[in-house]
Amino acid sequence: MEIIKESIAQYAETHTSAPTTLLQQLERETWLKHLHPGMVSGKLQGHFLSMISYMIQPKNILEIGTFTGYSALCLSKGLQENGILDTIELDEELRPHIEKYIEKAGLEDSIKLHIGNALDLLPKLDKVYDLAFIDADKINYSNYYELVLEKVRKGGFILVDNVLWFGKVISDATDADTIGIRTFNKKVQEDKRVENVLLTLRDGIMLIRKI
Ligand SMILES: C[S@@+](CC[C@H](N)C(=O)[O-])C[C@H]1O[C@@H](n2cnc3c(N)ncnc32)[C@H](O)[C@@H]1O
Repeated sequence: MEIIKESIAQYAETHTSAPTTLLQQLERETWLKHLHPGMVSGKLQGHFLSMISYMIQPKNILEIGTFTGYSALCLSKGLQENGILDTIELDEELRPHIEKYIEKAGLEDSIKLHIGNALDLLPKLDKVYDLAFIDADKINYSNYYELVLEKVRKGGFILVDNVLWFGKVISDATDADTIGIRTFNKKVQEDKRVENVLLTLRDGIMLIRKI
């Protein structure tokens, strides 16, 4: 189900600055070599993530769900000098691809890849984050949210992808992913610890500020 008319989505892409040659290469390789390439952030969302990062100028960023590294490279754009982006990916097979692109970008000192289940690894990260991006399996969104919120500073931000789930959040669908996202959206909306805005960019991004 398309949320935004194809022609409008196309128009938005046409009026968004071009990604770097490296990001274009990374996206192309994702489509050629990886399963479920549609998970990659891509031009529009990638640039949005970079802009948010430039605005916040974070010292520490946390990402859950690296996939092929597109969003990590975008999020790293606004990092302060000596800032670190910790990114967690479950799939060990993605490691060579991710590390190759971190190296090509010259970001070995600022992007730290953690391979494993975010639910196990998050409690072990002893850091305070200015910005976090949640983009892993949808059934665990509420669990990630709780673990991440603890680690984000007051006034810090959390971005959460796919919160419209191709429009299924307002359908009769009762599959586990749709329920996971609906439950998460309701939880955030009722959470007095944060303020939030649901952006209809691509598949929906929840922008959350810890208060
Ligand atoms: C939608 S993709 C991420 C896309 C990426 N953020 C981007 O924008 O290009 C979701 C990723 O989350 C990973 N993932 C799923 N469950 C996970 C878990 N429990 N811990 C860490 N990563 C997980 C998947 O292997 C997949 O690579």
